[in-house]
Formats: sequence, C-alpha cells, structure tokens
Amino acid sequence: MFENFTVPKELIPSDPRFGSGPALIPVKHLNSMAETGTKLFGTSHRQSAVRNLVKEVQEGMRNYFNLPKDYEVVLGNGGATFLWDMIGTGMVQKKSTHYVCGEFSQKWYKAHKNIPWIEAVEKKVDFGKGINPQNDRDSDIICTTLNETSTGVQLSSLCEVDDSTLLAVDATSGAGQVPCDISKTDFFYLSPQKVFSGEGGLFISFMSPKAIERTEKIAADSSRYRPIIMDWKQAIDNSKKNQTYNTPGICGIYLINETLKEMNALGYDKVCELAQKKAQLVYGWAESKDYLSCYIQEKEFRSQAVATIDVDEKIPVDDLIKKLRADNIVYDIDAYRKLGRNQFRISLFHNVKYEDLEKLTKLISFAIESL
Ligand SMILES: Cc1ncc(COP(=O)(O)O)c(C=O)c1O
Repeated sequence: MFENFTVPKELIPSDPRFGSGPALIPVKHLNSMAETGTKLFGTSHRQSAVRNLVKEVQEGMRNYFNLPKDYEVVLGNGGATFLWDMIGTGMVQKKSTHYVCGEFSQKWYKAHKNIPWIEAVEKKVDFGKGINPQNDRDSDIICTTLNETSTGVQLSSLCEVDDSTLLAVDATSGAGQVPCDISKTDFFYLSPQKVFSGEGGLFISFMSPKAIERTEKIAADSSRYRPIIMDWKQAIDNSKKNQTYNTPGICGIYLINETLKEMNALGYDKVCELAQKKAQLVYGWAESKDYLSCYIQEKEFRSQAVATIDVDEKIPVDDLIKKLRADNIVYDIDAYRKLGRNQFRISLFHNVKYEDLEKLTKLISFAIESL
C-alpha cells in the first residue's frame, strides 16, 4: 500500500533509529571509541585502564541517581534476563510476588516459577493496563517492572515494604528517565542498551544493605544450589574493586559512560522533564488523529520511555514500517512482536531527539493521509 510513498526531504529524521532497545547509539560516541586506540580495548579488565572506566560508570550512576550512600553499584555480564535467575536462586528466601503487565514482567515471573525450591506468585493485569506493586506480607521479595517495554506501561507509584521484604525493580528500559525513588527499592537494575545508549549483555544494579544481607544469608545455606556464575558475593566483591566477575565487553561500558556523562551534565530532573516533553508530543499526536489512539488508556501508566500507538486496522502499519526501513529512513518502530497489534512502538529514550520525533510523527501522518 505504501510502495510508492516518498518521504519529503524536510521530514527525514537526522537519525533513523527509533527502536526500544537496542537504543540508538550516537555516532560521535562510536567515533570517539575508535579513537581510544591502544589505551583501552584489548587490555586486561583487571588493570587500571578498564577499572578506571568501570569506576567512572559506577560513580557516574551514583551521582546521577543520587543513590543512598550505603547502596552498592553492582555490575556483571548477562543483562537483565540473566539477573532473573540470579535473583531467583540467590535473593528469594521462600516466595516472590510478581506484578505482571507485559512480556518482560511475565518472563521474570516464569524464571522464578521454574526454580523448584521457591514459590512464585503472579499478580497480573491484561496487557495494555498498568499495575503498581503492593506490599505482600507473605512474600520475602516483591518484583515489579518500572517500564514494561513490551506494552509501554510505566509504574505510577512504589509501595513501602516491611523489614523482612525486599522490593526489586526491573528498571531495564525506564531507569534514568522514568522517575523512581531508588531509596525505596532494595534492588534496582537496568540493561545499558536502553536509556543509556550502551550495548546489551551487561547488567547494572543498585543494592541496598538489606538486599546484600539477604544474598549473604542465602549463600550461607549450603543446602541450596547456586550456579557458580550467579555467585552474589563474587559479583559484589568484584564490583567493589571496579571489576566484573568474568571478562566483560568494553564497548558497552565505554558507550554507557559517554551518555551517562551527558545525562549527568543535565541532571536527573532535567532528563526526566525532556522525556516527558517527548511523551507529550507523541501521545498528543496520537490523540489528535482519528486513525490513531494511545494503546495505554490509563494516562497515569503511559510510559515516558516507550510510546505505543495503535493504528486503525484499515491501515497496514507493517507495510509502512517495511517501506521506511527499506528506504533507510526509520528503523524499528514495530509493535513488540508477541503483542501482535497494528501498532507503532516508538522509543523516547534520551538520545532520541525531540525534533526527530516531530519529523517521525509528521511523516507517518503524511504517509497515511496521502493514501
Ligand atoms: C523491561 C525489560 N526487562 C528485561 C529485559 C531483558 O533485557 P536483556 O536483553 O538485557 O536481558 C528487557 C529487554 O528489552 C526489558 O525491556
């Protein structure tokens, strides 16, 4: 249907990448990475060049999120998916409760359900709806997702938990631009390939003393199986020495640091404000067109990191998405694959420019209204 559509020059975004992860990586960061020459890449991750870079990221995160002084910044290989099993085997005492509102929160629940010696409970809403966590006194850990990337739902509030319970937050795609009071959380984690424009394969987490204590208690129970690669003590001890447990990829760490420095220069509140403006632009556009609608009806849960916009069934969005990709004008605005909706899913991540989102919305409208 869109085979003959040509995007007017003035509507071509400066960067075609609008995916909800991996996020676009600024080209200037790729270039400066190449200029590091022999100083960093191909050198030992146990020596000062890499360790200083890791330290800069840890301190940059501490500063950006204004972390409580007694929290540790723990990082390691494997990304958020890896952490689900690491939390299940090493942080859950007996029972975890999961607040599920999309594919990722559900996968976390399934990872815990798979571990025979713990119990996992699912509190679920239909996909497209939001759910805030509650303190469940029977559970020793509450698991919630700051930004459900598959549906574009964000949390609107956190709960207080009691002394024997941990609050764990999967902040993979929201951390940094979806407001969250980290001092209320015990374990807050992200993957760098989202808001911070890094690369996949790494996790970065913030642990409260209560969370660290829990991992120590479980580690002391010799009857419990714990995969060696998921050893919390090693992960924490090595992080304190600005190292990962096993060999990391340096590109990802380098790239996060570049965006993190820029975000620190703006400050957390400003970055959240910019994200909100981009969200208002995209949701406002959807509300202004009769062939579009916001997938997330409850405004309080609409994400300011990933916007999901439903399109009238008469318009085949996949055709337009395919055409824009083939012309190298726009990449990766498809709905989350398993959701199966006639939908655009658009990244509002920090490095996606407001002006480019303006162009994207205009060019989509132009394409559809020219039919
Ligand atoms: C909310 C959320 N959690 C977890 C993951 C998995 O992250 P990773 O691919 O880094 O394991 C993703 C990936 O998109 C995500 O969006």
